[in-house]
Amino acid sequence: MSTLRKILVSKDISCKSVWFMRQAGRYLPEFREIRSQNQNFINLCLNSELSSKITLQPIKRFNLDSAIIFSDILMVPYALGQDVKFIKDLGPELSEFNIEKFLENSEKEFSKKLKPVYKAIEITRKSLDRDKSLIAFIGAPWTLLVYMLNIKKNKFEIDFNKLKKKDLDINKILSRLIKFLCIHIHNQISAGADVIQIFDSWAGIIPHNNIKDYCFIPNAKIVEFCKREKIPSICFPRGIKEKYKDFNEIVKPNGINIDYDIDPLWAKNNLRGTTIQGGLDPKKLLKSEKEMLEGATKYINTFKDIPYVFNLGHGLLPETDPDRVRKLIEFYRNHQ
Ligand code: CP3
Repeated sequence: MSTLRKILVSKDISCKSVWFMRQAGRYLPEFREIRSQNQNFINLCLNSELSSKITLQPIKRFNLDSAIIFSDILMVPYALGQDVKFIKDLGPELSEFNIEKFLENSEKEFSKKLKPVYKAIEITRKSLDRDKSLIAFIGAPWTLLVYMLNIKKNKFEIDFNKLKKKDLDINKILSRLIKFLCIHIHNQISAGADVIQIFDSWAGIIPHNNIKDYCFIPNAKIVEFCKREKIPSICFPRGIKEKYKDFNEIVKPNGINIDYDIDPLWAKNNLRGTTIQGGLDPKKLLKSEKEMLEGATKYINTFKDIPYVFNLGHGLLPETDPDRVRKLIEFYRNHQ
């Protein structure tokens, strides 16, 4: 069994496990080289051989304990019929959402469009050591909706007027999304992935009165599906502050990734019965080595006697020096 599964499922605190969100990405020169020859990001994600190669780049370099498949949460809206473009320095841009078209999607067509992702998982699993996990992922329904409806105003707010003007049945769209996301999870696991991470990156902008319907319940339904299929899950409801406690008690995932606003000691005392993952601010890797390692020590020491997976409070930043990543992994592995 992989160290990640030992900590997530058996709650074994005697073993260590480290991986990083965005471990395959722009901070690696070997990624930038492939990327420079593949301008269309979606097409790159649909290239199974290259996807697999990129997935394995950080494993080759750092011998991390888990690989996360190189893909994107926006492959799901793509497979549900929206055009997805990545505009340099601006981020993703999706074509206009059409409810009739959305509701017409068939399960068969959806799985067919994502076949290259499943193929990439199959290829990767074959060349990955047995003791390493291959993590697959999805975007949580709310986070996907934010991109699909283009309702983000800025980093901290959603445009409610825009949402009202659209006059859509949000709960209906979320429940349709859950159905397709469970299919995507099932297909990724059948292809050889063995853990699922659920990214709710925009959970933090949900108004208080909607958090249950838009975040807790959709995540809970997906985690319940994973439990029925015996798939370990890790949730990352980024930015929900003290609501992490309710989230954990309602959703009950095997693991929960904390963001860098969450105090590790608070997490240890309030997030019970789960494996905690991550927390360290990725910006710490841009600071002095001393500052980075002091930051890491805080998490490692706080969580030394409970199930903990070493990771970050968000993805590695493009400007990170790969040697810093190496140092951080060595430090964690040598820490008593
Ligand atoms: O290494 C890994 O973590 C696996 C691959 C992965 C990517 N995206 C590749 C990627 C994963 C797990 C994701 C998840 C993802 N994608 C999230 C959830 C995590 C988070 O960051 O909050 C979200 C919100 C997205 C949507 C997305 N994809 C955005 C907003 C962007 C552009 C901004 C950015 O961060 O670059 C992407 C593009 C993207 N996805 C890149 C990579 C490596 C950068 C592509 C490039 O321009 O080279």
